[in-house]
Amino acid sequence: TDRYAVIGNPIGHTKSPMIHASFAQATGQDIDYSAIEGPLDGFAGAVHAFRDAGGRGMNVTAPFKLQAFELATDKLERARLAGATNALKFEGDRIHADNFDGVGLVSDITRNLGVAMKGARVLLLGAGGAARGALLPFLAQQPAELVVANRTLATATALADSFASHGRVIASGYGDLAGQRFDIVINATSASLKAELPPVPADVFKDSKLAYELVYGKGLTPFLRLARNAGVPQLADGVGMLVEQAAEAFAWWRGVRPDTRALIERMTIPLA
Ligand code: ATR
Repeated sequence: TDRYAVIGNPIGHTKSPMIHASFAQATGQDIDYSAIEGPLDGFAGAVHAFRDAGGRGMNVTAPFKLQAFELATDKLERARLAGATNALKFEGDRIHADNFDGVGLVSDITRNLGVAMKGARVLLLGAGGAARGALLPFLAQQPAELVVANRTLATATALADSFASHGRVIASGYGDLAGQRFDIVINATSASLKAELPPVPADVFKDSKLAYELVYGKGLTPFLRLARNAGVPQLADGVGMLVEQAAEAFAWWRGVRPDTRALIERMTIPLA
């Protein structure tokens, strides 16, 4: 049995062990996947201890995604550009780092929800870690327009600048969005965790096909409620992204890509 784990702090509510157990069963892989509460002042030690005890790989969640990137010896480009890591793979004394959050989000939007990003006008709210992780996979889809809006404009500008060689990202304040229209609007702020609403003008939703909330399990957040009231036909939260990024990590570790649809359906909590 090969051992894997998710590490975070707190870690109590993680769905990752259930998701990976379900993938393992469906693909006939013999793995054990547990949850580890990493000490806030001892992340590296906890990772090394798990590896030294025979661990083959780890998922990394808040607040350790930046530290995991620092710790890795081999960083894949996606992790490098995201500046953060959500998956580690141990091979001998090497620690490989990748980041599957962004590709998971793109798979969920394009494949599961059936909304094309190619040629679409995409609005991403927030310029923190969650938004950063999405930018490279978004640009790879060749949207017609990718706007990153943030409360602190300077953070969005810095983020857009750091991706300049990979495609065009436009930084914006919320006020400047008035009168603009987007096909897809994604909330990558942490506002929903505090039941707050990013100050997005409702008219951005006028032609929208999809409003996507990265936060999972909070039901109809203020952002999703605003989108629904503006008539957006499709609303989603981050459950599909969660399962898709897990499937990417599973494939990276085990060489087998599990099916995701049935599990997403099983985990989906109706939004209304
Ligand atoms: P994460 O890793 O979840 O992205 P983060 O890096 O702390 O967390 O980033 C949080 C993001 O949510 C930031 O873009 C933040 O905006 P600021 O840079 O202006 O602080 C955004 N955010 C948090 N609460 C918000 C709110 N109530 N309204 C708008 N944006 C908010």
